[in-house]
Amino acid sequence: FLLLFSVVFLVIADYVKNRRPNSFPPGPWALPFVGNIFSVDFSKTHESLTKFAETYGDVYSLRMGQTWMVVLNGFNTLKEALLTQGHCVADRPILPLQDDVAPNQGIITTNGHMWKHQRRFALFTLKYFGVGKKSLESAIVDESMHFCKEIADLKGKEPFNPHIITNNAVANIICTLVFGHRFEYGDEKFMKLMGLTCSCSVLLTVFLTAQLYNSFPVLMRRVPGPHHTIRKIYSDFMDLIKVDISKHKEDWDPSEPRDYIDCYLSEIQKATFYEDNLIICALELFVAGSETTSTTLRWAFLYMAKYPEIQEKVQAEIDRVIGQSRQPSMMDRANLPYTDAVIHEILRMGNIVPLSLPHSTNNEMQLGNYTIPKGVVIIPNLTSVLFDKKEWETPYTFNPGHFLNEEGKFVKRAAFIPFSAGKRVCLGENLARMELFLFFTSFMQRFTFSMPSGVKPVLDYRFGVTLAPIQYKICAKLRQVSSSQ
Ligand code: HEM
Repeated sequence: FLLLFSVVFLVIADYVKNRRPNSFPPGPWALPFVGNIFSVDFSKTHESLTKFAETYGDVYSLRMGQTWMVVLNGFNTLKEALLTQGHCVADRPILPLQDDVAPNQGIITTNGHMWKHQRRFALFTLKYFGVGKKSLESAIVDESMHFCKEIADLKGKEPFNPHIITNNAVANIICTLVFGHRFEYGDEKFMKLMGLTCSCSVLLTVFLTAQLYNSFPVLMRRVPGPHHTIRKIYSDFMDLIKVDISKHKEDWDPSEPRDYIDCYLSEIQKATFYEDNLIICALELFVAGSETTSTTLRWAFLYMAKYPEIQEKVQAEIDRVIGQSRQPSMMDRANLPYTDAVIHEILRMGNIVPLSLPHSTNNEMQLGNYTIPKGVVIIPNLTSVLFDKKEWETPYTFNPGHFLNEEGKFVKRAAFIPFSAGKRVCLGENLARMELFLFFTSFMQRFTFSMPSGVKPVLDYRFGVTLAPIQYKICAKLRQVSSSQ
């Protein structure tokens, strides 16, 4: 009887504590203690969350354990929340999984002054070292040559899995910015760095692990499981990067900073920043900046193999504007509207970060008829915007025409928000755009991508760090283009 009484008491207490407040967005009925955890298919969370909107509308709520979330859907809702009322949703929720090992450190999960200063500093440094400048452009083009050489060495015979080589090429651009140099792909330290970055992103972002830990931190701290390896990843990354920081200090000239670490050392000297934070910020730049861009390029290879007629049009445009005798440059973008439209369509259909990153309300907020109190987790469902039927002519078809006008000129689309929008908009957006353009045009200039004979391209995905294509093998045939072009 006592047991039954205790259970009934706990259920009633949970109900009273977690009732939907008045004027709170509606949502599915939540079970005691766990809320709606079992209503979501975590192997395709973005699809589950998009489907709920059909029943509950563009603004609805879910309860994950003891945490209320409001999911925002559709272009107009996201525009209102992230842009018009952006100041109300600029915070991130405190995530115990990250907070347990690196409290109030880094850019991605911090709030207030710490976030503002770290974000401003990172943006300034990215700009200083060349986003939009020739120096970084050369580094990207140079890296694409290393990538092309690796592929050319396969002599077009073997179908290959482009995953690791693409990750390496993209991560080397972050290495150039953070450490001031690239690595050979086989370098031991580089491989360790790649391994740590990958494990860290998996742990922090695989929705179920992160969600369970963040919803039930007291319990999960005691339950054995992969989430505990996060401490080891952080300390291994620290050991790795501390060696670099020491080397940087040895020949550091504050008047001539060479990279992100050098700039950070100046801030440490002024006592505004400290070293532990440098390490977390660097780790975050790797986590946020590698897998995202690399996943986009892997979608690019797959889409080109699936639509050879689109690939041919891209190559014909590149041959006409750039030819084969020189490398692509950012100046070419304005003259390559079709190629630019294809890259945008890859980002839209690839839907790389389908639910953005979670935000949280730092003030009470009025959204339509609903009132959302301070401290509620906000999920901007980017999927619902990138495939919004009201915004795109053929939302589920790969159609570069979404970004072209009748004369074939490139047109911007307001609902194109793969980098999110507002105060927390992706910090690496300009860098990512530059990388995607230069890598993609270099690859298209040199190779034709196709599936191995008898294999059809499968556009299925794996929901995880990013929405990535399932592992595949592809052929890259060196193009034979007459030198007059
Ligand atoms: C945040 C997408 C590349 C660094 C984000 C967010 C998205 C995103 C959706 C969340 C924005 C929000 O919370 O509203 C992408 C995509 C990329 C890409 C699709 C490539 C195709 C990069 C690169 C870097 C980077 C290259 C690094 C240099 C960051 C950082 C944040 C972020 C630091 C957190 C910003 C903050 O909290 O203030 N990104 N990203 N991203 N991204 Fe990216």
